[in-house]
Amino acid sequence: MKTALVTGASSGIGQALSVALGKEGYLVGLVARRKDKLKQTKKMVEEAGGKAEIFSCDLGDDVQTDSLVDRVKQWTHNLDLLANVAGVQVYKPISEVKTGDWDLAFDINVTATFKLIRGLLPILKSDKSLVLSVGSGMGVIPARGRSVYCASKFALRGLILSLAEEFEGGHPHFSLITLGSTLTGFGDETVEERKKEFEKGAAYFPVEWVVGRLLEVIESNHPEAEYVWYPGEHGFGVWKKP
Ligand SMILES: NC(=O)c1ccc[n+]([C@@H]2O[C@H](COP(=O)([O-])OP(=O)(O)OC[C@H]3O[C@@H](n4cnc5c(N)ncnc54)[C@H](OP(=O)(O)O)[C@@H]3O)[C@@H](O)[C@H]2O)c1
Repeated sequence: MKTALVTGASSGIGQALSVALGKEGYLVGLVARRKDKLKQTKKMVEEAGGKAEIFSCDLGDDVQTDSLVDRVKQWTHNLDLLANVAGVQVYKPISEVKTGDWDLAFDINVTATFKLIRGLLPILKSDKSLVLSVGSGMGVIPARGRSVYCASKFALRGLILSLAEEFEGGHPHFSLITLGSTLTGFGDETVEERKKEFEKGAAYFPVEWVVGRLLEVIESNHPEAEYVWYPGEHGFGVWKKP
């Protein structure tokens, strides 16, 4: 049975990816803070035919993140997939950004990813093992009112693309998904609000589309260092720069 650890497994892309991995028969470690939501995901993974284990963890808490690494190493000696999906959105003009907003964005979007990769490297030992990290178009395109989020996703991109070079020809493989807007409840807007915008023509990926493509990356023998997916380029609405 293949084994995956998915952060952000309590909702949105991470939850849907966990269920899709369950359908593929994976044992999935589910990471997020909300235990009730993780229980739901576990049930969905098991109904899909996989197995799941809950690892409730606040990735913004150093002690909890370090302990997560230890718990995962006791749980499995061979991790096929580490999917870094958890993320937080900070959309504020710089004058309104508190130091805590900056810390939160970097703690979750960058530092937790770094800590999980560094800590779990010894068990990412199969030739096909993969570290998949969900970045953002905002990790490539600067945008007003989003400087902190952009800075964190630019940093994540630098980390993953550098590791892809560092491990080129060996393993684990590293893939960054530079992803455009997707129909989840990420940040301030609800899924319903985003669906209404989508119906009016705004660019959003359906979650199923994103997860379908993520599975193709996971199953690929030679995953690329970066995949760039924007909804407007795949027939899902028209994108306007923020
Ligand atoms: N939706 C979009 O438009 C879009 C576009 C580009 C990129 N992305 C990226 O896609 C990824 C997934 O987002 P999503 O759209 O699926 O949104 P989502 O449904 O809000 O998922 C975010 C996930 O991150 C987890 N998380 C947040 N803070 C955490 C913390 N302190 N500790 C542990 N887990 C934490 C949340 O779990 P808990 O709250 O239970 O802890 C949740 O499972 C993010 O990295 C985001 O940057 C999203």
